[in-house]
Amino acid sequence: MSRRVERLAGPDDLDAVLAIEEASFNNPTTREWYEGELKRPDVCFIYVMRTAEHPVAGFCAFWLVVDQAHINNLAIRPELRGRGLGSHLLESIVAETRHLGATSLTLEVRRSNVAAQRLYAKAGFYEHSVRKNYYTQPVEDAIILLRKIP
Ligand SMILES: CC(C)(COP(=O)(O)OP(=O)(O)OC[C@H]1O[C@@H](n2cnc3c(N)ncnc32)[C@H](O)[C@@H]1OP(=O)(O)O)[C@@H](O)C(=O)NCCC(=O)NCCS
Repeated sequence: MSRRVERLAGPDDLDAVLAIEEASFNNPTTREWYEGELKRPDVCFIYVMRTAEHPVAGFCAFWLVVDQAHINNLAIRPELRGRGLGSHLLESIVAETRHLGATSLTLEVRRSNVAAQRLYAKAGFYEHSVRKNYYTQPVEDAIILLRKIP
């Protein structure tokens, strides 16, 4: 399957990202958040992954402040999961943050989200700390994961 990872390019991409958000999270990130972040493209980087069949098969949004990158959201369309797309997207994002000058990459993940934790562990992330009761709906700890970018 051909896969391309590139920056979100227009309203159709944003609609597709929001649909994946809705399908993936209990409290999806809002259109307002994305529209706000798209106004500061030097800090917030939103990438979509395209395949031959799907203009947006998955996406990732991260912030970059000086040399610290932080992934806000990453998801793959539900029907396309388990085929290596998440790994490919994450590898591309790590490469992109390196290219942009990041030396570390962090993110938060729900304690119960075993699939995501395995994905990140495979990509070289490790547990840095825990934020108690960080999430709502349902209330749950966040595991802070860190990956150094040599
Ligand atoms: C997490 C997510 C991005 C993984 O995407 P994906 O395309 O299914 O991932 P891949 O097929 O590349 O799998 C990579 C690794 O993740 C782990 N993994 C993926 N799905 C899994 C599952 N259902 N159960 C356990 N581990 C799983 C495995 O370790 C897998 O490696 P393996 O195939 O060698 O065993 C996807 O499940 C998703 O979009 N989830 C909802 C959104 C989300 O939770 N995002 C993360 C927020 S921090």
